[in-house]
Amino acid sequence: GLKKAFILALCVSTALGLGGCSSIKSEKRIVRISHAQSETHPEHLGLLKFKEYVEENLGDKYEVQIFPNEILGSAQKAIELTQTGAIDFVVAGTANLETFADVYEVFSMPYLFTSEEAYHEVMGDTDYMNQIYASTDEAGFRVLTWYNAGTRSFYAKKPIHTPEDLKGLKIRVQQSPASVNMVKAFGAAASPMSFGEVYTAIQQGVIDGAENNELALTNNKHGEVAKYYSYNKHQMVPDMLIGNLKFLNALSDREREVFEQAALLSTAVEMEEWDKQVEEAKDIAQNQMGVEFIDVDIQAFKDKVSNVQQEMLDDNPDIQDLYDHIQEINEKYAKGEE
Ligand code: GCU
Repeated sequence: GLKKAFILALCVSTALGLGGCSSIKSEKRIVRISHAQSETHPEHLGLLKFKEYVEENLGDKYEVQIFPNEILGSAQKAIELTQTGAIDFVVAGTANLETFADVYEVFSMPYLFTSEEAYHEVMGDTDYMNQIYASTDEAGFRVLTWYNAGTRSFYAKKPIHTPEDLKGLKIRVQQSPASVNMVKAFGAAASPMSFGEVYTAIQQGVIDGAENNELALTNNKHGEVAKYYSYNKHQMVPDMLIGNLKFLNALSDREREVFEQAALLSTAVEMEEWDKQVEEAKDIAQNQMGVEFIDVDIQAFKDKVSNVQQEMLDDNPDIQDLYDHIQEINEKYAKGEE
């Protein structure tokens, strides 16, 4: 009736830039999340859970929209958008956070975690990690949770059996100084670029290869252009769900709880999917894409970069505490305790 016509008129005037219909008609706040992966990737599935939980509990007020495939920009661009509040959340690897809080450099250390168990325990300890997550508050954003991004290894157009095979190869790394140093320590040339550029760069021979988890071969199709994946397992680098701090701080206590719970639930879904999809990815890469998986003498690769951890500790005192904490958990699993 009349009221509807009134609101409509207001909304039209809003569209013309004349006023606020949002204050009268209860419009939902759109919550935007950006990530770099496809819509079948474990992270996307985890984020769908995030959306579901937020909308189940706060659906009258919030609508969550997920933007995959770097469509809002590469990780670094999307972090900037999250910093300014142009979008609300982004998923990005810790390598991309190093320039905002240098404690995150620790995850770029080669062979930091000595077992998957230790990695999962460190990351799963939310109370401990929350101290780390507060480190980017000054930059205007905060990590809510982590996602498993598996173990990273080298892959290239040519087989890599020993560290010597890396000599002279141009390897793409993430846009982080620590990643550049790591690949240099392995004896290769480092070429930093965003994730979305890697496929074409390998295809066109701009680089010889890259380093990542197995899903890069399938989900990101790198296995079409790089046929040799060597299990040297130099890093376990988590991805982080990052939120704009102003947005998070403006939430009521109950809302904040819902968003935090949604984040934890998304991690549970993501991790389960991860384990499944890595197995599938190996099978698809090997049997459908013709990628050869190479088992290497990991110790030889470790020896090649054995000074890097200490050098990084000397250069950056901010990583010492987290590093020591991780070593404790490493030891616990090395001794076979639970
Ligand atoms: C993985 C990781 C991403 C990261 C990417 C990369 O896919 O999950 O967060 O950006 O590797 O190497 O850039």
